[in-house]
Amino acid sequence: TAENGQNAWLRYAPLRSVNSYNLSLASNIIALNTSKSSPVYTASLELQKGIQSIFSQAVKESDEIHQAASSLIVGTVDDYSHVYGNGNDVPDLEEDGFWLNTEGETVKILGQNERGALYGAFEYLSMLAQGDFSHISSVNNPNQPIRWVNQWDNMDGSIERGYGGSSIFFNNGGIVDDLTRVSEYARLLASIRVNGIIVNNVNANVSLLSPQNIQGLGRIADVFRPYGIQVGISLNFASPTAIGGLTTFDPLDSGVISFWTNITDQLYQRIPDFAGYLVKADSEGQPGPLTYNRTLADGANLFAKALNPYNGVVMFRAFVYNQLNESDWKADRANAAVQFFKPLDGKFANNVVVQIKYGPIDFQVREPTSPLFSNLYNTNTAIELEVTQEYLGQQCHLVYLAPLWKTVLDFDLRVGQKASKVSDIISGERFNRPLGGSAAVVNVGTNATWLGSHMAMSNLYAYGRLAWDPSKDSQNILQDWIRLTFGLASEVLNTITKMSMESWPAYEQYSGNLGIQTLTDITGNHYGPNPQSQDNNGWGQWTRADKKTIGMDRTVWNGTGYSGTYPPEIASMYEDISTTPDNLLLWFHHVNYTHILHSGDTVIQYFYNAHYSGAETAQAFVKLWESLKGKIDAERYEQVLYRQTYQAGHSIVWRDAISNFYWNLSGIPDEAKRVGNH
Ligand code: GCU
Repeated sequence: TAENGQNAWLRYAPLRSVNSYNLSLASNIIALNTSKSSPVYTASLELQKGIQSIFSQAVKESDEIHQAASSLIVGTVDDYSHVYGNGNDVPDLEEDGFWLNTEGETVKILGQNERGALYGAFEYLSMLAQGDFSHISSVNNPNQPIRWVNQWDNMDGSIERGYGGSSIFFNNGGIVDDLTRVSEYARLLASIRVNGIIVNNVNANVSLLSPQNIQGLGRIADVFRPYGIQVGISLNFASPTAIGGLTTFDPLDSGVISFWTNITDQLYQRIPDFAGYLVKADSEGQPGPLTYNRTLADGANLFAKALNPYNGVVMFRAFVYNQLNESDWKADRANAAVQFFKPLDGKFANNVVVQIKYGPIDFQVREPTSPLFSNLYNTNTAIELEVTQEYLGQQCHLVYLAPLWKTVLDFDLRVGQKASKVSDIISGERFNRPLGGSAAVVNVGTNATWLGSHMAMSNLYAYGRLAWDPSKDSQNILQDWIRLTFGLASEVLNTITKMSMESWPAYEQYSGNLGIQTLTDITGNHYGPNPQSQDNNGWGQWTRADKKTIGMDRTVWNGTGYSGTYPPEIASMYEDISTTPDNLLLWFHHVNYTHILHSGDTVIQYFYNAHYSGAETAQAFVKLWESLKGKIDAERYEQVLYRQTYQAGHSIVWRDAISNFYWNLSGIPDEAKRVGNH
């Protein structure tokens, strides 16, 4: 049923009877805060619902706080100490952290704050739903304070790069009346410990700031509040001229400053826990401070100042670049973010966080880690990921993204010859910053599956889990998701694990291998193969493929100099073709098609082989999925089968389009005689 889709990993499917587990579940829940907007109250409702659904057992809310035996206590550490006077047995927790103790007769779920308590409740239910009844005392603290999602929703209800229906927030220029789906979304996000959401497109429409829409945003925030999620919005930098009646949007102009102070005050009046702003300025035609010869830091600090009295945050995007001309061998869009932002290090206010895409171009199937992470030491940073599969098959292809994200989060940039993992930079730890974290572009819509495909939800689930703890293993995360979404049967677990873990490598093989980028249509919808669109465009997403050669020369000695924007140990690895990994060869080097890889193949033969083997893997997904017939409810079985059958076909389109393109261009035959005319 549609509910399976809507509840995603929070289905709480029934387990065998409680007795057969010899399990004594609590019969009461003691919630230490019962006000309706409190996440602690939400936690108690969720616990009742979950236990009822998993075990068909009612648990009643109790205010008999001193009859705590055989109870489940949920609340903050402070409230717990206050009521029970024995908070000393509770370990120290960080902000948003929680302690889950199932060792004694009383189950204790205590958060450092209210949302922490809610996270603990979801964790407990996740264990139960997976049949894990172990007795634990577990302290959970987040790696990073900012764990947000971004929605690219427009006020007319469309969603930029959204593949799961129209907006659950907006239509016809306003906020929708019925926010039921919003509260279901809030529930999913809270369960993966997301604590903030930007609800509108980075290419922001000014009309969101009308008094009526600010009231509507207030309704949205009221829905998110019981889930411990703060709401923020994207801003259009030119709002002062567009709706403020001013003649300038210069960030240093006093009229502009009071315009933004006033807007910010209005927002906080309606939404006292408003999260802050996301700003795309001077990027892809969006207005920004550069118009007035002000710096990007001046632009960011304008908002930081207005938000500061309220502890609000500005997420300022590093996705700033200019159009380029490919006839210039040294032109390189990958250099843009470092060029724009490195000189501004230390100039951003303390409540500004520079939000950086994982790679230097744009959500490609493989990119090296953005070097900007290793160039800002006095600036808060966050990583930007995409759950929406813009360049990665738009939810019509299964691509489990956690392994891709991990290549970046785990990457050690070796700043100052010291361990400098991206995850430790964005957490604030490496450079001792007060703020930092993660943002993912999610773009769920009105579709009952949220993202347009059941399988794509593993990416949303994994995003939250990794933002909380980037050291987690992608396959372990995946398997939690599978058990919670599709049940505990081992064939189901093993099959979906195999498909998912093979999915990103397969997509990389048939869409753009060796670091050449996703060879999709880059001029428009970013879908399907279009290798010829990858050159002679102003976007700077180039392959420089000709009859004999391919790849971007990003070396310092002969190319764009990009490799030199990394710290020395990393720079020298990429500068030298012999130490550059094969999977990034064409990102860093311009070579003949006959260049021999570390693997022993030529570049062109690798292309042919990879396209065939990637497509073959996608064919195999259909058979694998068919083996689950009868083991998954028919509705979801059929929906996934439909998508996998489509992917199998489309992977052949990719394979043939790309193999033939390079065969035509290079004239080099495929040793296995699959490509071209024979
Ligand atoms: C990509 C995407 C755009 C989006 C932009 C951004 O280029 O295709 O739709 O606006 O990124 O991140 O700002």
